Amino acid sequence: MRKPIVAGNWKMNGSSLFAKELIGQLDSHVQDLSNVEVVVSPPALYISQVLADAENISCAAQNLHDAQAGAFTGEISVAMLQDLGCKYVLIGHSERREMFGDNVEFVAKKVAAAFAGGVNPILCVGESLEQRKNGQAFAVVKEQVLSALRGLSFDPDNLVIAYEPIWAIGTGETASPEQAQEVHAYIRQVLADEISAEAAEKVRILYGGSVNASTAEELFSQQDIDGGLVGGASLKADDFKIICSAAANK
Ligand code: PGA
Repeated sequence: MRKPIVAGNWKMNGSSLFAKELIGQLDSHVQDLSNVEVVVSPPALYISQVLADAENISCAAQNLHDAQAGAFTGEISVAMLQDLGCKYVLIGHSERREMFGDNVEFVAKKVAAAFAGGVNPILCVGESLEQRKNGQAFAVVKEQVLSALRGLSFDPDNLVIAYEPIWAIGTGETASPEQAQEVHAYIRQVLADEISAEAAEKVRILYGGSVNASTAEELFSQQDIDGGLVGGASLKADDFKIICSAAANK
């Protein structure tokens, strides 16, 4: 059985006070939920603080650089994340692919660096609206998954994939449970065909894109949806708690 995960992607939002208050409200709620792993992904500056305040929540960084150390102003290495006790790292979020030069080669290097450094990657994939309209959604997602994983040896328990159709991110337009399930099942098939049966069985695949307190339960009830990567709604304690509970009840 795959344990569901709910990860809250704060993006470039928050402050130390905000983090303190939100974690204060979430941590006690999560304590009572045994069948879900709750993760928050604050700006890197707040990871230490969140980990100090939270007993039941782990952290994902929003990015890393693949180099171990060196002249990369503004970047963060996997060893630094490991040093803080950060368990996960988002890699290949569509905002980074679109705005910050995270192309397929760079994403693949980052995934390899994360595994090598002992921080679990949450590999984000997803098609644009145009690609979906042109019938390319499956091909795009397959290529994004395989270009990041081809030739790597990894423990499937340590990989999380987030399917985030770009047209659903921050738009309020959630993919329907059936649309999401279809792609999740396809990703699992790609893993079975190209990586291993074990990977297909064990890798957790999250849905992301306008998940909210009213859509979470139905999305998470789908067979191949193992939780969510949640942006906007993860900034509101009450909504995020409902989403975490929905995953715990899967
Ligand atoms: P959203 O963001 O929930 O605000 O659509 C999801 C994400 O970008 O991870």
